[in-house]
Amino acid sequence: LTRERYPVQRLPFSVVSEEDLAAFERITPGRVVTDPEELEASNVDWLRTVRGCSKVLLKPQTTEEVSHILRYCHERNLAVNPQGGNTGMVGGSVPVFDEIILSTALMNQVISFHGVSGILVCQAGCILEELSRYVEERDFIMPLDLGAKGSCHIGGNVATNAGGLRFLRYGSLHGTVLGLEVVLADGTVLNCLTSLRKDNTGYDLKQLFIGSEGTLGVITAVSILCPPKPRAVNVAFLGCPGFAEVLQTFSTCKGMLGEILSAFEFMDAECMQLVGHHLGLISPVQESPFYVLIETSGSRAGHDAEKLSSFLEHVLDFGLVTDGTLATDQRRVKMLWALRERITEALSRDGCVYKYDISLPVERLYDLVSDLRARLGPQAKHVVGYGHLGDGNLHLNVTAEAFSASLLGALEPYVYEWTAGQQGSVSAEHGLGFKKKDVLSYSKPPAALQLMQQLKALLDPKGILNPYKTLPARA
Ligand code: FAD
Ligand code: MLT
Ligand code: ZN
Repeated sequence: LTRERYPVQRLPFSVVSEEDLAAFERITPGRVVTDPEELEASNVDWLRTVRGCSKVLLKPQTTEEVSHILRYCHERNLAVNPQGGNTGMVGGSVPVFDEIILSTALMNQVISFHGVSGILVCQAGCILEELSRYVEERDFIMPLDLGAKGSCHIGGNVATNAGGLRFLRYGSLHGTVLGLEVVLADGTVLNCLTSLRKDNTGYDLKQLFIGSEGTLGVITAVSILCPPKPRAVNVAFLGCPGFAEVLQTFSTCKGMLGEILSAFEFMDAECMQLVGHHLGLISPVQESPFYVLIETSGSRAGHDAEKLSSFLEHVLDFGLVTDGTLATDQRRVKMLWALRERITEALSRDGCVYKYDISLPVERLYDLVSDLRARLGPQAKHVVGYGHLGDGNLHLNVTAEAFSASLLGALEPYVYEWTAGQQGSVSAEHGLGFKKKDVLSYSKPPAALQLMQQLKALLDPKGILNPYKTLPARA
């Protein structure tokens, strides 16, 4: 575990005292965790790459409790780390030092759901998969889905502006989130929890908190627009002979499946080897340099099947695809999705993982992977590329048996410079958190960075909310 690799100094916040613990006990009776064993899981991130040493975790159940906690911490100058499901990829969800962990685990109530509009209002700590189940029982789906669905909280999703597997069809949370309730650093409750599709009354303040990674406020409730549950879902898992063919398959797919296309994901041969080796998953198609997973979601099974079969005929005839398999029943659909969704898990079992989450022009999406494979040679165990090709989002991951400073030196700033050279983004969907905060300037100009710092100072003048995260330390 590696905090020393990211040198940073503790800021002069207060240290939690016995009186503070007594005050917290009055605010959240029986929900103040100080047992070191219980705290362990919340002090370390999912990837096990960063670790804090918080001595206290609070589990509020209501917005009022969150407000009391923050008002108290603000007065006492105590730093706070908001935490959802702790599945974040950039070390934003765990303390760096002894920040108080404010967990949304017990804020897990659905507030309302409207069966005509599909608008769901719920507390921030609802687990994504549980919300999916809830709305699916009512013939709707959540507008987002990701491999971490079993643990991540909707508040965490909003705080990271998570992209995920349905982005191509339903777009960003900046569009699907209709309202938010947020508690500001001083305890003020900002109720922007509207459920309106259209509302141009002044600045759209909720947008500030979407993707703010717990640095501007604590999200306590979310109003989100859910699309109707598609009647027919098909998944095609295909093998492609090269990346040029992956791109041509994508273009063809958009042309022939346009309105029913709901996902276009890709992975390379090394990813397939890793999910096979570490998780025992078996490839459903012949070995290929690349694989794509295409999902269609529509309202008439026959219509979609017909379109999909003429698409498949076309891509096979033109040699864009060399082998493929189709699934319509839920069990097989899930099985094919697992090959793609569980790459993260397979990588984490492969050793030390260097993770990059990059937006690039789709035509250049794989160039960086090939380039790095050649550049790193035997220094790396695996160099893999996978991701949300339909959104121009590459997940470039490098593994090694153990952490190596020279490997890191070969990767950074090279990867960031390469990305900036393409006017890409150094964080497409995972955010900056603790691990990527110093690379923001590869994708944003100085004036944008300065405005971000001014907004932070306006909303959190004492800097108690998730310090050391998202923005680089001020000179
Ligand atoms: P946490 O990890 O607990 O927190 C993440 C950040 O949000 C932290 O900075 C935290 O302080 C802040 N935060 C959490 N809750 C709140 C709140 N209520 N108010 C204010 N701030 C808060 N991401 C994608 O974008 N797309 C993917 O496809 C994807 N797939 C993943 C697959 C796996 C297997 C894993 C482990 C992660 C994946 N992720 C993906 C990463 C993604 O960021 C998270 O899974 C998810 O959005 C984080 O939610 P969480 O509740 O776990 O938040
Ligand atoms: C994914 O798309 O699988 C996630 O963003 C997690 C990852 O990048 O590994
Ligand atoms: Zn992703």
